[in-house]
Amino acid sequence: MTDRTFYENLDAIDPLEPLRAEFHLPVDAIYLNGNSLGVMPLAAPVRAKHVMLQEWADDLTASWNKAQWSTLPLQLGNKIAPLAGVGPDEIVVCDSTSVNLYKVLYTAMDIMRRRAPEKRRIVSEKNSAPTDLYIAQTLCTQFGMTLDLVDSDTLHAAIDDHLAILLLTHVNYQTGAVHNMADLTARAHLHGALAVWDVCHSVGAIPIEFGRSDADFAVGCTYAYLNGGPGAPAFVWVHPRHVDQIAQPLAGWMGHAAPLAFDQQYQPAAGILRYLCGTPAILSMSVLESGLDVFHKAQGYGGMTEIHKKAQTLTSLFIQLVEKECAGSGLRLLSPRDPEQRASLVSLTHPSAAHAIIQALRARGVIGAYREPDILRFGFAPLYTRYTDVWDAVMQLKSVLTTLS
Ligand SMILES: Cc1ncc(COP(=O)(O)O)c(C=O)c1O
Repeated sequence: MTDRTFYENLDAIDPLEPLRAEFHLPVDAIYLNGNSLGVMPLAAPVRAKHVMLQEWADDLTASWNKAQWSTLPLQLGNKIAPLAGVGPDEIVVCDSTSVNLYKVLYTAMDIMRRRAPEKRRIVSEKNSAPTDLYIAQTLCTQFGMTLDLVDSDTLHAAIDDHLAILLLTHVNYQTGAVHNMADLTARAHLHGALAVWDVCHSVGAIPIEFGRSDADFAVGCTYAYLNGGPGAPAFVWVHPRHVDQIAQPLAGWMGHAAPLAFDQQYQPAAGILRYLCGTPAILSMSVLESGLDVFHKAQGYGGMTEIHKKAQTLTSLFIQLVEKECAGSGLRLLSPRDPEQRASLVSLTHPSAAHAIIQALRARGVIGAYREPDILRFGFAPLYTRYTDVWDAVMQLKSVLTTLS
């Protein structure tokens, strides 16, 4: 791994390499921010044009049936299902992650209020995504519950008989550290609690098994590794044991059992469709489908197994190369060193120049992200990131550090 040839050879034998051609990639740039906003599938503008100029412009309301607009939220959910380890008609695409989290967390709190009203404690991780914490804080006030934020190494101990709901992001957005969904869910269940998962930073990057993990509720975004486009709608999954037991709080007409009956009384639809609220964002959803279709194609190239393997190799090589080439620069590894405990991103810290380094890299065409207070974050989306990108990015990083010192 001491010269570029090693990385070129890895690219030459990469089974996922043909999938890179499915995307528009920025010219003269190494994009290491696909964990935030995925790149554009080449099929997306073609699909958008068709939806706009044919389905919308010419066919108008006929498209609800003719172009299957009305079933798009479930169709897309069914395309996400294999990435999340669940069966058909268990996931629906709609709204944003934050809104969907509101729905499922409210529902989970409602279940616990009926099942064990004495349990009033929600546990989450200290540096969880802020939006998840804001939603949890709002609902805790509404339900008279308390939100306890703990460090990841004390999570196990925090799951005790007082716990009502465990709310976790599967992969931490700052560090890329992966929680064991099955173990933590099992522990929560053992103590009579429910487990709610946010998979924004894991879906499409590492395998997820909602079903086998026996999770209760989950939400995730589609604009990151699923390449759904800016502001693409999110998705929601509810375990079949809960889904028909209780109505979600945002009772809109699209979640009604018969939306076109225009009934004055709300009657929730059966199954996951009740988690819909208002009219689906057809343009965004259509574009998202182009991103999901690449994952479908990826099944012919080893699917999530190869994607996960490549994520681990890319991130491991990046860490090894940074530690070798940038030794003594003040950079420290924040992400877990063990690839099994890490998703598809690597975070480093620098005590004084994290922001300046990210800016200098950007000027040289290496796109990472800065996170307060001292974090440099690099995402390695396996569908389109090359091994040579790792080499080239680290060489630029080394050069930037030399100019800064
Ligand atoms: C873990 C996590 N959850 C939720 C969100 C926000 O999702 P949305 O903007 O779809 O509500 C983010 C944003 O990046 C996130 O990182």
